Amino acid sequence: MDKISIGGVEIERTAALAPMASVADRAYRLMCREYGAAYLVSEMISAKGLCYGDKKTAKMCAVDERERPYALQLFGEDAPSVARAAYMLNRFEPDIIDINMGCPVPKVVGNGSGSALMKTPATAELIVREAVKNANCPVTVKIRAGWDEDSINAPEFAKRMEQAGASAVAVHGRTRRQMYSGKADWGVIAAVKQAVSIPVIGNGDVDSAQACEKMYRETGCDLVMVGRGSYGRPWIFEEIREYLQNGSLPPEKSVEEKMQIMLRHTRMLIDEKGEGQGMREMRHNVIWYVKGMHGAAALRRECSELTEYSQLERMAREMIERNTEN
Ligand SMILES: Cc1cc2nc3c(=O)[nH]c(=O)nc-3n(C[C@H](O)[C@H](O)[C@H](O)COP(=O)(O)O)c2cc1C
Repeated sequence: MDKISIGGVEIERTAALAPMASVADRAYRLMCREYGAAYLVSEMISAKGLCYGDKKTAKMCAVDERERPYALQLFGEDAPSVARAAYMLNRFEPDIIDINMGCPVPKVVGNGSGSALMKTPATAELIVREAVKNANCPVTVKIRAGWDEDSINAPEFAKRMEQAGASAVAVHGRTRRQMYSGKADWGVIAAVKQAVSIPVIGNGDVDSAQACEKMYRETGCDLVMVGRGSYGRPWIFEEIREYLQNGSLPPEKSVEEKMQIMLRHTRMLIDEKGEGQGMREMRHNVIWYVKGMHGAAALRRECSELTEYSQLERMAREMIERNTEN
C-alpha cells in the first residue's frame, strides 16, 4: 500500500478514522484499527481543561500503543492555553497533535474555539505557531470549508496554517452553518489541495469503499477520513483497503459475524469503563450494528434497558436466529 508522511509520521494511504467526541472512544478506535483504519484521532480534548488539571480531561490523553499512528486532538481559543496543553501532551508521546478548528457546537464556538477560529485566522495562526514550538511531534489542523456559504475560506486559511508550521490539514467540506446537514463540498477539498504543499486529508460523507475511491480521484487528497460511515461497521476500513488494492469488495459480513463483532466491541468497552458505564455507552453502537436487520426496531426499544453484557448476548442470539430463518 502507498504511504503518506505527515511530518515524518508514515500513514498508509487507505482511510483514517475521524475524531468523534462521545463516539470514537478507545474501544471504538481499536475496533476500527482491527479492520485496518490507517490513522486514528482522539476525541477532542479541552486545552483549558488540561491546563487546569481536570482529571477527566487528563484521562483522555493516554495513548495505547495499538492506536499508533495516533493523534491527540486539542481544542482551545487562545495561543497560550493551546501551547501549554501541547507541551503537556508531550509526555503522552502522541504521534501527532491535531488542533480542532472545525467543531460547530455552540458551546465550543461560543468561546471562540472550534470552527469559530476560521473567522479569526490571525488567532488561528498564532495558535498553530505556538503549538508547533511546544510540541515534540508534528502539529496538524482540522478545518471546515468556512463559517458559512458567504465566507468559504478553507484554501487561504489552510495556506496560513501551513505557513504557521502545520504538517497537514484535514478538511471537512461543510461550513459551520451547515453543521452536519446538506452535502459536503468536495470541491473545497480539491481547492485546498491546490493551495498548499502539506498533505491534505479529505473528509465528509465517505460512507463506502466506492465513495472513498471517488474522493481520492475527485479531490486529489492525500488521505481520506471517515466518520459516520463507520457507525456500526468498523469493517468499512477493511472494505476500503481491499477496494483500493484490488477493485473488489470482501464478502458481505453475515448477521452472525456482525453480532460477534458487536459483542467483541462491547467487551472492549467494558474492559475500559466497567460493565455499567460500558453497557450504557454501548447502546447507541448496538442500534447502529443492527441497522437494517429484521427485528432492529424492537431491539432499539429494548436498548434503553441494556445494563448487563448477558442481556446483549441474548439479544445478539435472537437477532442471529431471526435473521437466519427462512
Ligand atoms: C458525533 C460526532 C462527534 C464529532 N466530534 C468531533 C471532534 O471531537 N473533533 C473533530 O474535529 N470533529 C468531530 N466531528 C466531525 C467529524 O470528525 C467529521 O469531520 C464529520 O463527521 C464529517 O465526516 P463524516 O461525513 O465522514 O462523518 C464529530 C462528528 C460527529 C458526528
